[in-house]
Amino acid sequence: MMTIEETCTSASVLVAFATRYGATQEVAGAVAATLRESGLEVDLQFMRKVRSLKDYRLVVMGAPIYLSLWHKDAHTFLMEHRQTLTGRPVAVFALGPLTTGEVELQGSQLQLYKELAKHSWLAPVALEMFVGKYDPAKLRFPDTLVARFPASPLKDLPVTDLRDWAAIHAWANSLPAKILT
Ligand SMILES: Cc1cc2nc3c(=O)[nH]c(=O)nc-3n(C[C@H](O)[C@H](O)[C@H](O)COP(=O)(O)O)c2cc1C
Repeated sequence: MMTIEETCTSASVLVAFATRYGATQEVAGAVAATLRESGLEVDLQFMRKVRSLKDYRLVVMGAPIYLSLWHKDAHTFLMEHRQTLTGRPVAVFALGPLTTGEVELQGSQLQLYKELAKHSWLAPVALEMFVGKYDPAKLRFPDTLVARFPASPLKDLPVTDLRDWAAIHAWANSLPAKILT
């Protein structure tokens, strides 16, 4: 069997993302920009548009959590590319919590772990949960209904964007070491 170094021609990275309202796309863009500053060649793409992974030495996946579930495109991506991703470094991030509270963070992390357990073959080289963004004015159906539900934590929640860009850059900066050692 060939190693990744033999099969891949460049130190290229794919940052593949899924999003509903754009917050994860912006974080994926920041991750890609940080990796480019490290000298890596980086492609940034919607997960659902990715056709082939053959040239990438590292695949970074980012997708948000909705109602305890990881964005369906992330599951589809892992199922479609399982064969190529097996044995190749995969870094995973998700967006979820809307506050910086420890309890909410842990709740979102648990949701992500449960979702990743559906792909037991996957062993990410890095795994991170980032605080997300919420804008009630942008919601589409059925999220509008979810947000109005009396017991919903989103009820009456104003616009919130506590994304920690320093943490996002730091995480992205830690990734090259996972493939270049
Ligand atoms: C209807 C709705 C349900 C959500 N459910 C969850 C959830 O179960 N767990 C969580 O951690 N975050 C949840 N979130 C927060 C989103 O993950 C967060 O807003 C994220 O930044 C959205 O990213 P996107 O703009 O890329 O889609 C929810 C947000 C909305 C609007």
